[in-house]
Amino acid sequence: MKILIIGNGGREHSLALGISMSESFRKSGSELYCALGNPGIDEVALPVNIKPSDTDALLAFALREKIDFAVVGPEIPLSMGIADVFAENGIGVFGPSKAAAEIETSKIFAKDFMIKYGIPTARYKSFHSGNIPETAEFISSLNFPVVIKADGLAAGKGVCIAKDIKEANDFIDAITADKIFGESGNSFIIEEYLSGFEMSVFAITDGDDYVVLPSAQDHKRIGEGDTGKNTGGMGSYSPADALIDNTRKKIREKIIEPVLAGMKKEVRKYKGCLYCGLMICGNKENYEPYVIEFNCRFGDPETQAVVPLVKSDFLELLLASANGTIGNYELKTRKMYAGCVVAASLGYPDKYETGKVISGLNREPGDAIIVHSGTKYSFDKKEVLTSGGRVLSVVGLSPESIDEAVKTAYKRLGDISFENIYFRKDIGNKFRIITGK
Ligand code: AMP
Ligand code: GLY
Repeated sequence: MKILIIGNGGREHSLALGISMSESFRKSGSELYCALGNPGIDEVALPVNIKPSDTDALLAFALREKIDFAVVGPEIPLSMGIADVFAENGIGVFGPSKAAAEIETSKIFAKDFMIKYGIPTARYKSFHSGNIPETAEFISSLNFPVVIKADGLAAGKGVCIAKDIKEANDFIDAITADKIFGESGNSFIIEEYLSGFEMSVFAITDGDDYVVLPSAQDHKRIGEGDTGKNTGGMGSYSPADALIDNTRKKIREKIIEPVLAGMKKEVRKYKGCLYCGLMICGNKENYEPYVIEFNCRFGDPETQAVVPLVKSDFLELLLASANGTIGNYELKTRKMYAGCVVAASLGYPDKYETGKVISGLNREPGDAIIVHSGTKYSFDKKEVLTSGGRVLSVVGLSPESIDEAVKTAYKRLGDISFENIYFRKDIGNKFRIITGK
C-alpha cells in the first residue's frame, strides 16, 4: 500500500512514527510518503515537495504515484476540501470532508451546532462586523472576563480573554476594522468565561462508531504557571484520564455521541479525528465537561504524547476510520505514561530567529522520542537547523508515572541545544496540582 501523510510538523512526525511502526505497515512492505516532511519525518517517509495547502498538486501527485491512502494532518487542506476530492478520485483518506471540517473552521457553525444538539458549551452570541453596537449590550450582560473569538481560522491566535470593556473593544476593533486576521475576523463570537482545567480528548471515528484515545493535557501558554501569550502548545502529557475518572462517561454521552449523531443529521457525517477541547468545570465529585472548541484533526503537541501509548495497530485504526469499520477495531493501549516538552525559538509566539544549528539530536535516544516540528536540513552545512517557532519536542515514556515520563523528556532535552532555545520547565506539574497528588 502507498500512504501519503500531508503536513510537516510535530503532529505529522508522530503520525509517521505511529504508521511506520505498525505491524500491518511493516509486514505488508508498504511505502510511506510525506508532503512536505521535515528532517525527522524524512527518516521514516519519502519527502514530497508539495505544500499541504496546494491541494491540486497533492491530488495530481497522489494520482500519478497511485497513492492508496492519505492521512491529512493540518486543518488547512481539510478546510479546502482535500478529503472530498481525494475520495471522489478513489483515494482513501483519513480526515473529514470540507462540510464536516466546519466544526473547526467556523466557530459560529460549531457554537450554533452545539446549541442545536444540546452539547454543553459556554453561553455566547455571534456578531458580524456590521452590528458592532449590539456587542456592547451583550458584553454588559456577562461578567468579566469575557472571551472573544474570531470566527475563522487564525492560527490559534484568534481568541482574546478580555478583562475589561476596553480590552474587549480594542480586540474587536483589531479584528473587524484593522483586520489583523483578514477575512477570519469579519464575524466573531463573544462568550462567557469558563473556569476549570482544560483537557484534549481525541475520538477516532468513521461517523457511526468511535474509539477514544488516551486523553491528554496541553500547555497552551508560553510561560510557566500558564502565564503569558497563547501558543500552539508548549508541552503535553498523556494519559490525563486520572483527572476525569468519573467524567469519561459524560464526555462520551454528552459530547462525542451527540456530535456524531448531529453531524449525520446535518448531512456532514464526521470521519477522522474529532478533537474535543474541553474545559472541565465544577468540583471533583461532580465535574461537568464543557466544549471550548472542536478541531477537525489531531492536536499538536498532544499527538506526540498520545500516539506512543497506542498498542493496537495504528495504521489499521486510521484505515478503519476511512473505511467505516471502527466498530470492528479493538483499541488497545500501553500501560505507560508519556510526557512531551516542546523546545521553541526564543521570542515565539511573536518574532523569533531561525537558521540556528541544532546539536545533540543523534545521541542514544534511551526512552525518549525526538519529534521534529520547525526544523530543516542544510545541505551546505550538513546540519539540522531551526526553521520555525516550535522547533521540536522530546517525548519521555515511563511505566511508572507522568512525573517520571516528563523527567525522561527533560533529561534528553538537556543534551539538545541551539541558540536561543526556550522551553517551559513545568510541563506536567498541572497533573499534580489538579489531582492533589
Ligand atoms: P480556542 O482557540 O477556542 O481553543 O481558545 C484558546 C484558549 O482560550 C483555550 O485553550 C482556553 O485556554 C481559552 N478559552 C477559550 N474559550 C474560553 C472560555 N469560554 N472560557 C475560558 N477560557 C477560554
Ligand atoms: N494543541 C492545540 C491544537 O492542536 O489545536
